[in-house]
Amino acid sequence: MSVETKLPTGTDLRAEIDRLRKERNAVILAHYYQRPELQDLADFVGDSLELSRKAADTDADVIAFCGVKFMADTAKILSPEKIVVLPDMNAGCSLEDSCPPEKFKAFREKHPDHIALTYINCSTEVKALSDVIVTSSSAETILQQIPEDQPIIFGPDRHLGGYLNRKFNRNMLLWPGVCIVHEAFSERELLKLKEQYPDAPIAAHPECPPHIVDHADHVGSTSAILQFAKTFSGDTLIVATEPHIIHQMQKALPEKNFIGAPGADGNCNCNICPYMALNTMEKLYTCLRDLEPRIEIEEGLRLRAKRSLDNMLGMAAGTIGQGDLGRIRAEGQ
Ligand code: 13P
Ligand code: SF4
Repeated sequence: MSVETKLPTGTDLRAEIDRLRKERNAVILAHYYQRPELQDLADFVGDSLELSRKAADTDADVIAFCGVKFMADTAKILSPEKIVVLPDMNAGCSLEDSCPPEKFKAFREKHPDHIALTYINCSTEVKALSDVIVTSSSAETILQQIPEDQPIIFGPDRHLGGYLNRKFNRNMLLWPGVCIVHEAFSERELLKLKEQYPDAPIAAHPECPPHIVDHADHVGSTSAILQFAKTFSGDTLIVATEPHIIHQMQKALPEKNFIGAPGADGNCNCNICPYMALNTMEKLYTCLRDLEPRIEIEEGLRLRAKRSLDNMLGMAAGTIGQGDLGRIRAEGQ
């Protein structure tokens, strides 16, 4: 039976979600790639780093995570005493899928002198095998705290890793994963669009391949792209990331023109994340009502994964620095 058919006819989903949010003392967190209606009723909308911080700090009893599974897992790792629910447990991520823990373990073991710097878009098991997690908004700050002579393995996103290697002249060994959404942008179609709007800057997420990032005027996380959208001086912006973020741009600046960068067929719909799209209002309502599907993580695994996440939060905030790298490496052995 589908979730929808379980709902009483005429249910006012927005009102019911509000009622359950209060009844459960729940906080609704949403990523910028979620459907507009989910972004609009969330208590907080943010990028991966901001959502991790919110999950770690909230005093709610329940976290309803409108995002993908690795994000809800992160919330549970950081706030184990909370009930964490994800509207659809099938909301995965191609980057997580590209990096099976046993293969990542073998990769690590092949390079014992390397620090494992790992993108947050991965499983809890891979986080447990890593030294420091990064998000797209914390990666640059964290990488710059690691001495240039320290060898690094970076996974699972080869495009983000390659971008960091080029920008900071590093030589990190890259895991060959990609985001299927950012991989789908077409350089040819982007250049055609640029001919139509020659004055429009291009803002791109670093999960995009180099043939897209190389044309960008601004490269950054979803929050950084949003910030750029709020401050650029022109009237049109081309956005090379998942197009649901345009909802926030249009809300902040309704008079400006935000255009999603196209995929190979010239239509930006192919850049909608199919995993993020699994979450709906109906599923958010039922997960708040039933407190299912719920994230559960075995305690030993959770503690091992928390170590690499705590290192990220500390390095991003400046409370952990270069002087701690010896300890970080020793703890990761
Ligand atoms: P940020 O929101 O951290 O930029 O990450 C984007 C992303 O990959 C979400 O899946
Ligand atoms: Fe994963 Fe890409 Fe979807 Fe983000 S946009 S959840 S990286 S598949």
